[in-house]
Amino acid sequence: MNIRYIKQSGLFHLSNNSISYIMKIMENRQLGQVYFGRRITGHPDFHHRDERMHRTISSYPFENDTSFSLEHILQEFPSYGTSDFRMPALEIQQENGSLITSFVYSHHQIYHGKPDLPHLPATYGNETDDVMTLEIHLKDTLIQAEAILYYSIFRDYAAIARSVNIINHGAKALNLTTVMSMCLDLPDSDYEMIHFSGAWAREREKTLRHLEPGIQSIGSLRRHSSHQHNPFFILKRPSTTEHNGDAFGFALLYSGNFLAQIEVDGHHTSRIMAGIHPAQFTWHLEPSESFQTPEAILCMTNDGLNSLSQNFHGLYRRHLIRGYWKERSSPILLNSWEAAYFNFTEESLLSMAKRAYACGVELFVLDDGWFGTRDNDKTSLGDWFPDIRKLPEGISGFSEKIHNIGLLFGLWIEPEMISKDSALFLQHPDWLIQTPGRTPCHGRNQYVLDFSRKEVRENIFRQIDSILSNSNIDYLKWDMNRSITDCFSALLPAYRQQEVFHRYILGVYELYERILQKYPKLLIESCSGGGGRFDPGMLYYAPQGWISDNTDAIDRLTIQYNTSMGYPLRSMGSHVSSSPNHQAGRTTPLETRANVAYFGTFGYELDFSKLSDEECGKIKEQILFMKKYQSLIHTGSFYRLLDPQGNNRMAAWMVVSKDGSQALVAYYRLLNEVNAPYHSLKLHGLSEKGLYRITPGNLTCYGDELMYAGFIISDNSCGRVFDNSIKTYDFYSRIFILERL
Ligand code: GLA
Repeated sequence: MNIRYIKQSGLFHLSNNSISYIMKIMENRQLGQVYFGRRITGHPDFHHRDERMHRTISSYPFENDTSFSLEHILQEFPSYGTSDFRMPALEIQQENGSLITSFVYSHHQIYHGKPDLPHLPATYGNETDDVMTLEIHLKDTLIQAEAILYYSIFRDYAAIARSVNIINHGAKALNLTTVMSMCLDLPDSDYEMIHFSGAWAREREKTLRHLEPGIQSIGSLRRHSSHQHNPFFILKRPSTTEHNGDAFGFALLYSGNFLAQIEVDGHHTSRIMAGIHPAQFTWHLEPSESFQTPEAILCMTNDGLNSLSQNFHGLYRRHLIRGYWKERSSPILLNSWEAAYFNFTEESLLSMAKRAYACGVELFVLDDGWFGTRDNDKTSLGDWFPDIRKLPEGISGFSEKIHNIGLLFGLWIEPEMISKDSALFLQHPDWLIQTPGRTPCHGRNQYVLDFSRKEVRENIFRQIDSILSNSNIDYLKWDMNRSITDCFSALLPAYRQQEVFHRYILGVYELYERILQKYPKLLIESCSGGGGRFDPGMLYYAPQGWISDNTDAIDRLTIQYNTSMGYPLRSMGSHVSSSPNHQAGRTTPLETRANVAYFGTFGYELDFSKLSDEECGKIKEQILFMKKYQSLIHTGSFYRLLDPQGNNRMAAWMVVSKDGSQALVAYYRLLNEVNAPYHSLKLHGLSEKGLYRITPGNLTCYGDELMYAGFIISDNSCGRVFDNSIKTYDFYSRIFILERL
């Protein structure tokens, strides 16, 4: 890992063993993009790569030079209207109304390590030499503004972290109307964009489109990163597969409104940008004030999508997830939601918990319904004190009883919300987000607290702190069940109203941080009606997130498979729920429900008191299995093998330990087949010469055979008697354990 600056040519070259990222100070002192891709040997100049041609109907900043037009030059942090007409990364409205800016190189700094981002989630270094940072300071002298571009390169991952800080050094106020976290101009557009779209219970459906001239974008204006689009997307060559070819991945560490946009111009260059969505956003900068953007991650690989994913997995595990739980596997939990919804008594919960403990469950999570008079979703949000009709000894007494059983205890909260039917609303009807003179919209019968206000956050902190300090709580599930409408804050002046949603997200991050500072061993799982705020920003605070309210094992195959494109398995909340499934109505075998949920955090979400002894016996085995292989699943390398979203009737994936000595291979039948073709899977990550024992069965094979000739998984659906004891059926699944001898 190295960052070089070559003064004579004004060149910056960030590199590690896999990638190079090269920029240069251009003729007009602005910053140009030279190259981002597989590592290349440093050249003192790269001047020969400057393509400067005269093109008709262009505009030029220099009087006697009709070859230098920003419209045709790859740039790092472009603005609009000084010969570039593409969408800008930065737009500042000045006092005289002008939007024109020109930020040119002033100075730079290179150092080991990586600074924290004030009040925002960010990747970090662990050792002195596992990340290096370049700060490039640009200045617009006319308006006396400074833009600091941060670039950090990681030693062990093909990844760069970028963010921008804008400072107003002038005497007049400025309004930032656009400030992207990253912009990358690529020289051509022969790419496919993969992004992850959907809706509630259908999160992260993989969408693929070839780039076309014009703008293609995804984003959220829902004030949370959303079920509809995820702030993570990929650009790949059309020929790129899971294991070969160029792929870029872009992620924004942010949980609010975002825009991810690619503009292909008339000469087929591609401008990729990601950041806070400029719609409904303006940030007012008084003299001496500054604005810090969220961080964006850029990954690049030539080895296909799976390698791209592994870079994100490793980077997030080592450089984003923090604290007590960073190196620990999440406890195997039972969540009460689908087991009881709002209908429970202390007795019913305890009987579930006792049975769960006997089966090996480690953590009991009391979901919604424990506070105020919360018998349904119309009431009590904001009243974070226990409902003593249901829990006579409160959360402190109940958490003690759970601990006495031998389980850890977890609690659901939705701190950003308020019900009109609540004591908090009676006291503070003006604390909800609403626009003066208009009736605010509701969502799930609830309203949103104005988390941009300090006193609101203070009140909620005090309530949560009081529960945490008086009870024995090991885990919180932090939910957020609606999008934010009527965005307005009563305390801000008119010219700051477009800041509200970003201030809101900063408020959420502040509360997370405050709780974690005081309770560093607390495990927090983020949630937003399932996966409505499952984003890398959240992983900085909550190492795991509930990825969907859809707990159906077959639907989950697609959700987990696609989520793995950008997120590590240990971040994905995954539970075994009851059958028929409460969302999809589908009946699936208990084995398959577990075989899917293992590849995530793992837990249960069903009424243990209603299970048969036989089911309890199976669950005991499942938990023993998970405990044995949890560390392999959470720290090993994950390979996607068969895509459930394709035309396959099957899905498959595998996980291999870093040293290749152990692997799990799982395949799933979406639908059974009759007289089917033979099937085999080409495995990955094994030692070529290693001899592996495969169970179940009594087969031993060499790693190279399994990887290059394939691992035969043909089963009885092919009409061949593979194993007399096995009959395949719809939703059948199987896990093989590979052990190197
Ligand atoms: C959301 C969550 C669920 C559950 C309910 C409780 O929908 O995603 O897991 O916690 O809220 O109301």
